[in-house]
Amino acid sequence: MCGIVGYSGEDEAAEKIYRGLKKLEYRGYDSAGIATAGNPTVKVEKGTGTIDEAIDSISEAEIDGNVGIGHTRWATHGGVTDENAHPHRSSSGAIAVVHNGIINNYEELKEKHLSGHDFRSETDTEVIPRLIEEKHDELEDFHRAVEAVVEMLEGSYAVVAVKDSGEMAAFKESSPLALGISDGELFLASDVTPFLEHTDKAVFLEDGDVVRIENGDYTIKNSGEEIEREVKHIDWDAEEASKEGHDHFMQKEIKEQPDTVKRAVFQDRSDVEEAIDMIEEADTVYLSGCGTSSYAADLGAKYLREAGYDVISEQSHEMEYWNDHVTEDDLVIAISQSGETADLLSMLGDVDAPVLSIVNVVGSTLARKADHTMYINAGPEIGVASTKAFTAQIAVLKLIAETAEASLKEARNSLIDTAGKIEQTLEDNEETVEEVSDYLQDQDHVYFIGRGKGFEVAKESSLKLKELSYIHSESFPGGEFKHGTIALVEDGTPVVAFMRDEGLEDIFSNAKEAESRGADIIGVGKENVGDFKYFFDIPEDENSEILEVAVFQMLSYRTAVKRGHNPDKPRNLAKSVTVK
Ligand code: M6R
Repeated sequence: MCGIVGYSGEDEAAEKIYRGLKKLEYRGYDSAGIATAGNPTVKVEKGTGTIDEAIDSISEAEIDGNVGIGHTRWATHGGVTDENAHPHRSSSGAIAVVHNGIINNYEELKEKHLSGHDFRSETDTEVIPRLIEEKHDELEDFHRAVEAVVEMLEGSYAVVAVKDSGEMAAFKESSPLALGISDGELFLASDVTPFLEHTDKAVFLEDGDVVRIENGDYTIKNSGEEIEREVKHIDWDAEEASKEGHDHFMQKEIKEQPDTVKRAVFQDRSDVEEAIDMIEEADTVYLSGCGTSSYAADLGAKYLREAGYDVISEQSHEMEYWNDHVTEDDLVIAISQSGETADLLSMLGDVDAPVLSIVNVVGSTLARKADHTMYINAGPEIGVASTKAFTAQIAVLKLIAETAEASLKEARNSLIDTAGKIEQTLEDNEETVEEVSDYLQDQDHVYFIGRGKGFEVAKESSLKLKELSYIHSESFPGGEFKHGTIALVEDGTPVVAFMRDEGLEDIFSNAKEAESRGADIIGVGKENVGDFKYFFDIPEDENSEILEVAVFQMLSYRTAVKRGHNPDKPRNLAKSVTVK
């Protein structure tokens, strides 16, 4: 789960790769590096930390040349060290490689083919440049050597390799890789954001593709045969991926939600109808995702159950253990911002049922694998924590459920109405967000409780708070809290209760039970009906979960900033989790 970039053109490669890597930093930021080739050798600069920490001499022409590769790493095999940072070189140093994914058989390859080699790193990746060099010595052709090595690799990978001659090759299996095509320039990247400012033309490479880049041109082979892949037009605006005056991408993305929720519900009627047909035809509908997307799946299950369908929601990594119960007469609705989450893709790999995907990243693996895809159209989400993607996911799920129950027009209007209230709700709660984030920043533990859909809001709010502020936080159904966890409540323990209409009296009792054991209770709802220490006011709304979540995204953001953390890059996390 790393970000990779390749460039071949007429400009300084390092400069373009650096800018591209900055766009991919959300995929991992343990270490980074750039290698250029063809002028006349391979030059590498790399190290631990963020891209700026790792590469401090881009402008000093230490790594000049018009062909190059870059990498930003989220460590899997091998710790966070300079040696383990990519790019990795062959033994002579003439070939350099960047890799996203895992080479499962790297130990076997080392033993069988590279026994005399003195490896510089602990990574699985280093076998790739070394094998390419071995094959090159034998075949005397870089591209044929690459093709031969692809045959030897097992695992998931997106790889870009360069040779001192300036030749470049790329190949992929189960990890994303896109080729950007501009006048006189070619880009390779884990997603389209690194090259959007240069071109809107992209080819989404498929598993087994091997790309040869030479003299400003490219060819693609798959299973040894040269093939054509469709060049797609990407209509994401490069500006959308910049901060636009906000301190952090996360802040910008929270504030974009009035637009992104609206955009999410402007789905083509035919797409919504196709989704409903798939649901109607299914014996059982399964919803699945991971992390925040799994909470969207849980909410989606509640919406669809209210619309009268048989629905089960399960996180993908757990569903994998029983997905043999899912038959071709069922349906899986797969939910993911990135469309690259390994746990979800792996679970789907064994499933016979048709797949409806609800996804953000255009051309992602999930979007391409699904039988029908509905894009949530949230635009690039750069902050590692999911914000606008989550509200767009739940808006699309609710649109489907309510269209099935009533009409597309009614469903759309109701959600557009909610989108119109987000900005005002954030404004109305600004003071409380400041007070509560001041209070929370010194806390060690926080508990969130909710009933009905309030439980999903509690789960997402708790995840947001813990992943950004590193305050320990847990969420529970209001009814469950008293069955054990309440034992942890002491004087001054914060307990947040989502006071929604569903089970209002009961959740109020649960908050009071905590309060009578010393908790500081914080309420969220239409009206402060009790003695809550703090209360977030949410207007009456059919889709109030969207408003509640937006307020808690902002609270988590402010708490993280006050505790001195960078909310765009929480520690140990990556935007797109492409390992199991
Ligand atoms: O790209 P996906 O939606 O499939 O990602 C799923 C999770 O990894 C993601 O939501 C994660 O939980 C985020 N840290 C949430 O902020």
